[in-house]
Amino acid sequence: MIRLGVNVDHVATIRQARGGIEPDPVTAAALSELGGADGITIHLREDRRHIQDRDVRLLRETVQTRLNLEMACEQSIIDIANEVKPEQVTLVPERREEITTEGGLNVLAEASKVEDAVRQLHDAGLPVSLFIDSTPEQIKAAADTGADFIELHTGVYAEARDGAQLQCFEELKKGALTANELGLGVNAGHGLNYVNTGLVCTLPHLDELNIGHSIVSRAVFVGLERAVREMKDLMGQG
Ligand code: PXP
Repeated sequence: MIRLGVNVDHVATIRQARGGIEPDPVTAAALSELGGADGITIHLREDRRHIQDRDVRLLRETVQTRLNLEMACEQSIIDIANEVKPEQVTLVPERREEITTEGGLNVLAEASKVEDAVRQLHDAGLPVSLFIDSTPEQIKAAADTGADFIELHTGVYAEARDGAQLQCFEELKKGALTANELGLGVNAGHGLNYVNTGLVCTLPHLDELNIGHSIVSRAVFVGLERAVREMKDLMGQG
């Protein structure tokens, strides 16, 4: 069974637009679990543009499945992860001006920084995943850091159409096979929706998908519990 991690950052983004208390990502996490989510994913950004420290604290107490904390390789956030102890940490690149995480982590270029973060998180007993593009170089570099998982960046696949999308899928497939050969677990995510997720579910060795925007968007019309259930059903048929 491929696990579904529901990314509730997008609920926090709506809350922060007004700076108030609603909608609450903690409630969203509980409803996602009722809909069948296997985990809750949140990104604690340095600028705290959506998820707040209070959310991390409360979600640590209330999430009954698995908490996956996405974060940059920054010491202040590593310290929070080590204290909160999520079930998984996913290291992602972070630029202040981006709308969402844009490219994968450049593990090749930042090997020692990533390696140091992985070591600190492992010392705290936390499994680590690296969000990277599906290239052999990045996957080998990820394995060299001692990370446990990679999360294949599916953003380019998600935006491509027809033949180009199939070509992107082939790259993801090669990446999943290489990662498995190197002893890495395989997660994937970014830009996945109710149309393009089915094919991704046929990737070899896939452990987990992290999906946010499309589920929260559908939830506006059908409710969150149902939106999560529909994604789970679709993944079951993949
Ligand atoms: N995985 C990672 C590493 C991400 O940064 C994001 C976006 O926060 C997602 C998955 C989910 O992407 P989307 O919101 O496009 O489904």
